[in-house]
Amino acid sequence: MESTNTSELERLVSRLSNDLAENFFQTIQVLSTIINFTERFYEGSHSRFVSEKSADLARLLGLNSEQVFEIKMAGLLHDIGKVGFIDSSLYKFPHEMRPNEYKQYSLHPELGKEILKAHNGFTKIAEIVHQHHEKLDGSGFPQNLKGNQIHPGALIISVVDYYHNGVYKNKRENADNGEARITNTQSYLGNTNNKHSSVIGFLMQKKGILFDKKVVESFVAVVEMDRRKLGGKTVLRVPVNQIKPGMVFVESYHTSFGLLIAASGAEATSDHVKALVRFAEAGEIPHKVLVLADPEVPKK
Ligand SMILES: [Fe+2]
Ligand SMILES: [Fe+2]
Repeated sequence: MESTNTSELERLVSRLSNDLAENFFQTIQVLSTIINFTERFYEGSHSRFVSEKSADLARLLGLNSEQVFEIKMAGLLHDIGKVGFIDSSLYKFPHEMRPNEYKQYSLHPELGKEILKAHNGFTKIAEIVHQHHEKLDGSGFPQNLKGNQIHPGALIISVVDYYHNGVYKNKRENADNGEARITNTQSYLGNTNNKHSSVIGFLMQKKGILFDKKVVESFVAVVEMDRRKLGGKTVLRVPVNQIKPGMVFVESYHTSFGLLIAASGAEATSDHVKALVRFAEAGEIPHKVLVLADPEVPKK
């Protein structure tokens, strides 16, 4: 009798935890779709870059799988507090903002925490989101936390976020107008080389002061390797509905659940195209993806 009760209980617990996991992932999907509205002034997806690179760094720095997952989700959701912001608070850098714009901008970590803490499963993620603009020396916001008062996940996101803003945030006049045409970036790397060097220079100069030293050093190693892999190749940013079989993906594209849709280095197939269009429509991946301009596809 007792064993029957135990197995019923186990089944109930297992069903409840599956339901909770399902509910958790659906919530993340809804939130990450909403975040797309804040990302129109970036080259590519800001939250996805921050999420994936932060998770890579967390893994590299030896954090456990639960922490890596929390950091990945916090990276994806870190700027959710910007939903509803006026455009000038989205495309300007903080030092360019007028007092009213800066006031709105400075509220976003707190707003993000408030949005996320409504869900029990998001308590730790909300805490990391709240702290993602804190700096090691206490000069960050909103709580002026210092050193080890700051969550390791927030220290990681802070570095990746700073880098992506510095290199891939576009000014209003350059913002993607969403037109469905092929945009040849004529050396994606070339266009970002200067910004890349100056942002990396700043991070290295401020490691141990504003940013965690180990995080900066690991990030620089990862990002330099990514760029070396791209080499001098020319890449195109192509709308997903114009991807042709045989084109080679430069980056990997995942859903917010971590499901791989297209792998970096893989040749596009017609199945890829269907999946990319479907997931782009659902806001799961960017509407334009990076492919090699002149792939040296080995002939079979
Ligand atoms: Fe932020
Ligand atoms: Fe950000």
